[in-house]
Amino acid sequence: MPERRIRVLYDEAAIARRNEEMAQAIAASNPKDLLVVAVLKGSFMFAADLIRAMHRAGLAPQVEFVHLSSYRAATVSSGQVEILRDVQSEVRDRDVLLVDDILESGRTLAFAKDLLAARGAARVWSAVLLEKPGKRAVNIHPDYVGFECPDYFVVGYGMDVAHSYRQLPFVGVVETDDQAGLPGI
Ligand code: IMP
Ligand code: MG
Repeated sequence: MPERRIRVLYDEAAIARRNEEMAQAIAASNPKDLLVVAVLKGSFMFAADLIRAMHRAGLAPQVEFVHLSSYRAATVSSGQVEILRDVQSEVRDRDVLLVDDILESGRTLAFAKDLLAARGAARVWSAVLLEKPGKRAVNIHPDYVGFECPDYFVVGYGMDVAHSYRQLPFVGVVETDDQAGLPGI
């Protein structure tokens, strides 16, 4: 089973604790007419947990999805961002919280932020589960960060390598011995 060969970086309990803390911090910033925009695909699990934590923190956001792609089943960023599915709600004059899995070069999030700001959002915040420091190609600072992540290619909790491992309830690193055997690497 591939699961046995994944080294756990952030386990379920640690992620759950951080989600509650981030939801409390988001609630404390007193958002108005909040729209959460989850960036597909990688953020689906994080977004699902974060919005439930936001509910427990007393918030009632609406939820939307945008599907962006910059990776194209490779582990090196192409440097280009494509809209595969756009948001369907009006964002004008609303507070928008972008939710993404991982901030690396920052191109994906910067692209999404600019897009929503250009459509007249009142404020565009961002929450990322993981941030890889020192990898930024554009100047963007997320408002909420789950964990500062070492510079490994991580999988699980919604994140994939060549479409596998999204189902894992934790974030982990594929052990090096496995990588030669993985499709697409
Ligand atoms: P950025 O545009 O370079 O910041 O890339 C961010 C996107 O690349 C994330 O939303 C992920 O989809 C993907 N990504 C970057 N690093 C990793 C990783 O370590 N594991 C899985 N996906 C990653
Ligand atoms: Mg992504």
